[in-house]
Amino acid sequence: MLHYLILAPLLAVAAASAVSERATSSCPCGYRDSAGHIWRESIKSNLATSNALSVVNQDWAVQTWGQQRDNVYMQYSADNVYNVQNVLGIRTKAWSGNGSVYTGEIQTNRADIQYGSFRIKAKIPTAKGACFGFFSYQSDTQESDIEFLTNDTNFKHTVHYSNQPNHQTVTASADFTAFTEHRFDWMPGQTTFYVNGAKQTSMTANTPTAASRILANVWSDGDPNWSMGPPKTNAVALIQYINLYFNSTSYDATHFASDCKAAGSPAVCQV
Ligand SMILES: *[C@@H]1O[C@H](CO)[C@@H](O)[C@H](O)[C@H]1NC(C)=O
Ligand SMILES: *[C@@H]1O[C@H](CO)[C@@H](O)[C@H](O)[C@H]1NC(C)=O
Ligand SMILES: *[C@@H]1O[C@H](CO)[C@@H](O)[C@H](O)[C@H]1NC(C)=O
Ligand SMILES: *[C@@H]1O[C@H](CO)[C@@H](O)[C@H](O)[C@H]1NC(C)=O
Repeated sequence: MLHYLILAPLLAVAAASAVSERATSSCPCGYRDSAGHIWRESIKSNLATSNALSVVNQDWAVQTWGQQRDNVYMQYSADNVYNVQNVLGIRTKAWSGNGSVYTGEIQTNRADIQYGSFRIKAKIPTAKGACFGFFSYQSDTQESDIEFLTNDTNFKHTVHYSNQPNHQTVTASADFTAFTEHRFDWMPGQTTFYVNGAKQTSMTANTPTAASRILANVWSDGDPNWSMGPPKTNAVALIQYINLYFNSTSYDATHFASDCKAAGSPAVCQV
């Protein structure tokens, strides 16, 4: 593949995301995270803007699938991913007590992400009976999650981490209804979870290995053991940014090294 900087605007318009991310990168020698790991690529979605949806649409797809669950039909719909308060809103709509539950989700266009450091700065929803998730997904057994359940006792400080199907619940001092950065670092054999840059825990069992997408969603299906709900008022997550630093199966170490050298070997960017 070619990585001529002069083509960057054209490539960005063409939305050839795998290429444009690298060609327009101001960090051709990659990123070093706080744990010292190096990542070749990034997708940085700064959503603190009046048109957050236009930023989302560059690298993410708004989901519109539906599924019959035990208690209700759950329908992801595009209007539940929207511009609000100069950030991105993702919500589960207030449920009347009858009919489908309408939920919101975005996922990366790219499904080739394999290990990385993934961060979201957000306010969790406050309406009781929804799950707000930020996670990697390839299949139900190749999945790492950060999840918030708004009907948890002490929900403002409670976060659920998983390498599916293993779960851990952590209580943090930060108030998650204020903007808080949540992060997971997916490495071979270990996933480590952070709140505002402070390590909370890590998990080794069932760490995914497959190339994946990254998703964020707010959903509810009335499951009394998990999401509870559905919520009686809108359950809204407000998102300021999502920054993904990662390696992928479509840009290998050899091409990365030669692109870095061709760019004059500038310093690795600290993230
Ligand atoms: C639920 O919605 C269906 C379809 O609109 C309607 O036929 C039914 O009467 C409603 N049930 C209740 C309890 O409101
Ligand atoms: C909730 O958990 C209980 C106890 O483990 C189980 O009996 C029940 O089937 C679960 N309900 C659902 C909807 O998963
Ligand atoms: C919240 O949880 C309690 C049990 O702890 C349950 O009785 C209530 O229905 C739940 N509320 C919602 C909105 O899920
Ligand atoms: C990611 O890519 C960098 C640069 O090629 C490499 O040094 C690092 O080992 C890779 N990380 C993983 C987890 O594969």
